[in-house]
Amino acid sequence: MNTIRSRLTVWYTVALGVTVLTFGGLLYLERRQSSLRELDQRLALEADLATRWLSESYNVLGRIVTTAGTSPSLDPGISAYLEAVRDYLVVTDTTGKVLALSEAARTLSADALESLTGPLDSLRLPKRAGSLSLGEGGRARYLAVRVEAAGPEIGGLLVATPIAQAALGPAQLLRSMIIIAPLILAAAGLIGYWLAGTALRPVQGIMDEVDAISDGTSLHRRLAVPLSGDEMSRLALTVNGMLARLEQSFASLHRFTADASHELKTPLMVLRAGVERALVHPGVPGEIMQSLDETLAQINEMTELVESLLTLARADEGRAPLAVEESDLRDLLADVTETAGILGESAGITVTSSMPDQPVLLAVDPHRIREMLLNLVTNAIKYTRKGGTVDLALTERRDAVSLMVRDTGIGIAPGDLPHIFERFWRADPARSRTGERPGTGLGLSITKWIAEAHGGSITVQSRPGRGTSFTVRLPRATTRNG
Ligand SMILES: Nc1ncnc2c1ncn2[C@@H]1O[C@H](COP(=O)(O)OP(=O)(O)OP(=O)(O)O)[C@@H](O)[C@H]1O
Ligand SMILES: [Mg+2]
Repeated sequence: MNTIRSRLTVWYTVALGVTVLTFGGLLYLERRQSSLRELDQRLALEADLATRWLSESYNVLGRIVTTAGTSPSLDPGISAYLEAVRDYLVVTDTTGKVLALSEAARTLSADALESLTGPLDSLRLPKRAGSLSLGEGGRARYLAVRVEAAGPEIGGLLVATPIAQAALGPAQLLRSMIIIAPLILAAAGLIGYWLAGTALRPVQGIMDEVDAISDGTSLHRRLAVPLSGDEMSRLALTVNGMLARLEQSFASLHRFTADASHELKTPLMVLRAGVERALVHPGVPGEIMQSLDETLAQINEMTELVESLLTLARADEGRAPLAVEESDLRDLLADVTETAGILGESAGITVTSSMPDQPVLLAVDPHRIREMLLNLVTNAIKYTRKGGTVDLALTERRDAVSLMVRDTGIGIAPGDLPHIFERFWRADPARSRTGERPGTGLGLSITKWIAEAHGGSITVQSRPGRGTSFTVRLPRATTRNG
């Protein structure tokens, strides 16, 4: 129930159900009413015919009631015609005593017959119509008329017919509707589900497209605007407008970072030169020398930070082109291993490396790849304790080259793994920028960017306390740069 599609389907089905039920109910009532009308018309016709028969007979014969039997009754010759009437027919005298019955009326029980003659007993008006109960026979429609033109012995006559007979039509209708309604509702549900799906498909499309765009690097992309000019195209236009504004603010953010880093570079260089000159100045007291040393270290760190920021800001802007040239990765690795060896020596860490015997040629930006490897190696040394080892490996496969940096260091907690490539992220936020393991938290962001700029990828495996290994996979056919 948590999708618009299912809600629309339910509403549609309910709406259709209510419509079908209302329509069916009204149809049923109408059918019933008109069948009752038809019934009444039939009764009127029968009553009219019987009245005429009686009065005609009286006109011709003069006397139509015989007292030959135990009680007075209609002359058999005349009543024979009335007996043939399909419905209940009763002819009474003025006191309400029965003079003749139709064939059908004779089958009724005494009680039913009594209630049938009831309306005739108290017949004050020339005509009376209505419904009465026949006991087990159910309810019946009747029409009672006073007969005055058939002599003084004839009081009136009544014709009646069970309502059930008329109700048969509408009742059948009702039964059919009860059977058909669930089928209609099921079909409505299916159609509603399909319709909602069709109507919402463009929304799904827009959602997928926005999903693909919102990874942060595709903000220049725009949604395809449907030509329909409906809500969907307005939605696409709105989202596109929003993307344009987002792109613009991201661009100015990148611009600002790049400009600020760039502007900081020169003053830092001047500062550095000044401090260095002061350091070599003869006659500087010892404590001043020490604080100058610390200042220089800080300046160096700041320069690195500014460089990293500039690199990332340019990469974001797409203004950090790769100077690609065919290089032997073994040379790069050997170079980095040498630097790592020096770093490792002072930290008490053994650095080893392994690589194929043949040249491993690949079109890369050697400076960037070197920077990348150095980032990984300095991390490995920084986060490994004295006595540990750092291992560099270059392996070659048909479609790709892998560079691996493995250490036996402190490792990374599983919960931290998804964050290590984020900018400024460091495992222990409380850990200061300086101190035991200084750093800015930008190294791996840059490493990842370099790997991806070469069309490659970087993966990490780590077990806390056991060690970490980073693997960079560079495809043979370099597809993109910048
Ligand atoms: N080999 C490793 N072993 C254990 N933890 C690591 C390793 N490499 C990276 N990390 C964790 O990932 C974090 C991010 O690394 P990253 O290189 O981006 O930043 P940094 O080394 O702290 O600073 P810098 O920007 O100076 O490199 C580190 O702070 C560290 O917690
Ligand atoms: Mg680092």
